[in-house]
Amino acid sequence: MPSPTRKPIQVTVTGPTGTVGYAALFRIAAGDLFGPDQPVVLRLWEIEAAMKALDGVVMELDDCAFPLLADVVTTSDLATGFDGANWAILIGSMPRKAGMERGDLLQANGGIFRPQGQAIAAHAASDVRVLVVGNPCNTNCLIARANAPEVPAERWFAMTRLDHNRAVAQLARRASVPVSEVTNLAIWGNHSATQFPDFTHARISGRPADEVLDRHWLEGDFITTVQKRGAAIIEARGASSAASAANALIDSVASVEQETASDDWVSLGVVSQGQYGVPEGLVFSYPVRSDGKGSWSVVEGLELDDFARQRVQVTAQELVDERSEVADLLG
Ligand code: LMR
Repeated sequence: MPSPTRKPIQVTVTGPTGTVGYAALFRIAAGDLFGPDQPVVLRLWEIEAAMKALDGVVMELDDCAFPLLADVVTTSDLATGFDGANWAILIGSMPRKAGMERGDLLQANGGIFRPQGQAIAAHAASDVRVLVVGNPCNTNCLIARANAPEVPAERWFAMTRLDHNRAVAQLARRASVPVSEVTNLAIWGNHSATQFPDFTHARISGRPADEVLDRHWLEGDFITTVQKRGAAIIEARGASSAASAANALIDSVASVEQETASDDWVSLGVVSQGQYGVPEGLVFSYPVRSDGKGSWSVVEGLELDDFARQRVQVTAQELVDERSEVADLLG
């Protein structure tokens, strides 16, 4: 039962009628983000055209009688949507349509994430944390953050946990071990086909992954499978990943809120402070550890071999290029 003395955490979700949002809401309401004693209020922001569908989603939330769900607010007004938000989970974005260049997609999404950043700055709680899920999530996060300079850099996250989970699953399957045997995996860079799923520090049952598995496979098929997994799912399902993305979203927030296991790390897109030579200010996925008390840090001091260093540079360069393409939206 929720503790009556605990103040509910206000969680804003944009795009709640989309497939990822729909899958995530029920887990958030069930307590998967903050544990079994913490009530939540869902603040669901949707575009006007989807408000009827949102009414249906809220009926379903009602019908679950979730003990931890203190209230649900639905709105297409940004001020109301972000009012008092402690966590803002930005899922809704413009999907790529036939004939669209990456630059068009970046610009179209800028039109969404710029006002959302401004609304976060103006209306969210003073401790707000923001997770950007909608693609291209690193640069959408960059745009939102640039339009909310009052919100400290360490409160912004872009979701690369789906890639992280995919990489862990691939390694475990190849080594024929349970996923729990894979640790110290990291995704570096952009949530795109340039990302670097770093096997060079990963461990399988405590041993370096490249001692357990063939380095040729790790450098080749392993990396490309993870990089292209989103596209493979679209090809197979006729729709992009939804439940696995929602699961990764839950894992991402939980990994900020909870202490990271002492011998492991997680992957999160965070604002670069220049670590590992990545230009400052980019939203870049790094290995990250959280103390479970509100503080997290990038794992520093890892040795990158030539292969890894080159991969990190490629994905950082892509993010530099994306930043140039949206320069007009950064504030
Ligand atoms: C994914 O990784 O599955 C999503 O970000 C969808 C995509 O376009 O890859």
